[in-house]
Amino acid sequence: MSDIDDLRPAISPPVAIPPTYVEAAAVAETDRDPAASAPPPDMEISPRRFGRVAFAHPAEAEFARLLDFYRVRWDYEPTSFPLRWDAGRLVEAFTPDFFLPEHDLYVELTTMKQSLVTRKHRKLRHMREVHPDIRVVLLTRRDYDELLAGMGYGAVNITSLPESDIERVLFSPVEIADRVAELGAEISADYADRSLVLIGLLKGVTFFLADLARAVTRPLAIDFLAVAARTDTNDEPVRLSTSLDLDIRGQHVLMIEDITTTGLTLDFVLRRLRALEPASLEVCVLFDKRERRLIDLPVRYTGFSVPNAFVVGYGLDYRQLYRNLPFLCVLKPEVYARDHAAALSEINRADYTRAHQGGLDCE
Ligand code: IMP
Repeated sequence: MSDIDDLRPAISPPVAIPPTYVEAAAVAETDRDPAASAPPPDMEISPRRFGRVAFAHPAEAEFARLLDFYRVRWDYEPTSFPLRWDAGRLVEAFTPDFFLPEHDLYVELTTMKQSLVTRKHRKLRHMREVHPDIRVVLLTRRDYDELLAGMGYGAVNITSLPESDIERVLFSPVEIADRVAELGAEISADYADRSLVLIGLLKGVTFFLADLARAVTRPLAIDFLAVAARTDTNDEPVRLSTSLDLDIRGQHVLMIEDITTTGLTLDFVLRRLRALEPASLEVCVLFDKRERRLIDLPVRYTGFSVPNAFVVGYGLDYRQLYRNLPFLCVLKPEVYARDHAAALSEINRADYTRAHQGGLDCE
């Protein structure tokens, strides 16, 4: 990958997964001189999966980490495909960045720079003409960002958190702390003769769960679940992207959620938890946007009712930002308009359209 821009996400996936690769320092990029790097006759270059991989760009290391997250096996640049000969001499070859053996798929990462993407598309077209049986896809920065977003990460600018983006504060830090203390006391009284398992739905719940757990005086264990949007045609709107560490069979479970709006997410999670046969299953929601409810939920503990507006702070995010605000607030509409305009201009980019026409399937 000679012409890739920086695809690194602003936030690296913090999931501790035994790496199947060793992230190497980014080495200086050398645009492959096809004539100089003619592949051996069998076109195979030894896979380096188990050794130290010298990625040509940090984005490739990130992508390898992403594949590890999804438990997808990969080889880095295992094969060079000859593309063009002149007078019996190979003058052009193509070495896709990754091969995913389980999917029989080659993946090429590329840049957002239009001129370079166009060149890369041309090369891929040529590749498909010469090697029609080889499945290869181009992954643009936009596609890569979407993959990360599916994991709950976005290519966000984490350097700025302008106060001027905030329209109004709904609940102050003191109001939140007081209400959380009340909830803790109520829960402690209700579970006076029992221990319980608190299950939080990542990531927004982390602040609330940390505070609530310290306000509960009963013995308790903590576990987490995460949901991700489904990309297939299944009826369910979401899927669990993590599983519980604890066995909750016969336990008194209290599901903790930061905010519930339509109720779809919580309903989905509760159905799955019930199947694990806990002794009891109750729900505690800090912020309830009841006006938008689609599905009736058995919520036993509610912190606050909130109006029908998008809110951030105290764990709740907009594009991963604002979680660390100690209060709950509504952002100014310009914040979304700004992003919307940026997203639109990006979506209108020809490279994005073309990449998707190409049929990416490298999840
Ligand atoms: P539901 O499935 O519609 O109830 O949505 C629940 C999920 O949507 C929550 O877990 C939040 O992650 C997200 N969400 C809903 N409303 C807001 C909001 O106002 N701010 C931030 N996240 C929200």
